[in-house]
Amino acid sequence: MHLHRVNTSDRSLIKNHFPAVLWMTGLSGSGKTTIAKAVEYELCTKYKIHTYHLDGDILRDGLNRDLGFSPQSRSENIRRAAEVARLMADAGLVVLLSFISPFRADRDNARQIISPFTFIEIFVNSPLELCEQRDPKGLYQKARAGLIPDFTGISSPYEEPLNPEINLDTSKMSLQDCKNKIIQYLFKKPLLR
Ligand code: ADX
Repeated sequence: MHLHRVNTSDRSLIKNHFPAVLWMTGLSGSGKTTIAKAVEYELCTKYKIHTYHLDGDILRDGLNRDLGFSPQSRSENIRRAAEVARLMADAGLVVLLSFISPFRADRDNARQIISPFTFIEIFVNSPLELCEQRDPKGLYQKARAGLIPDFTGISSPYEEPLNPEINLDTSKMSLQDCKNKIIQYLFKKPLLR
């Protein structure tokens, strides 16, 4: 009997869009998760795009629960997230990720893993002072008090993207502005078939 196999393009062709990976990087409290959720909502409900959102905090509760915040653990965290995103892109989805992903080499590695699928690096560019002022989880206060070691921006570095596809200056842009900038970028690509 003839063996039938399904490939990436067969899976993608039954959808009205191309696969893509949207990688949000930025400090804790910068707004990555909120922006990813808003973009996902519009892509999914308005444009009927098959999306999935992978969030650092959520993966760290499950798949990555064995990992901490040393540079080695963060590299592994990002590698696994990228491998999962690659599988989802292969399945035909538009994947949004929100991870601090503080190290340039790890983000570049993620881009390599995702290749040849479209990888869009989005810098959620919120100044440390703003994130620390918001402090939605009270973590900056704890980090300043020395209760959380290796805290990004305080006792562990954040390496800003040098050439992100999209830069969101959240000190000047509203959530709506950030969402619109990402959606506009996607529709210039183009994303829809
Ligand atoms: S990453 O650096 O490895 O990409 P990731 O995005 O998965 O980080 O997780 C960041 C979240 O973990 C933060 O939003 C915060 O809630 C929590 N967290 C706990 N400890 C730390 C720490 N030392 N540095 C940064 N975030 C921490």
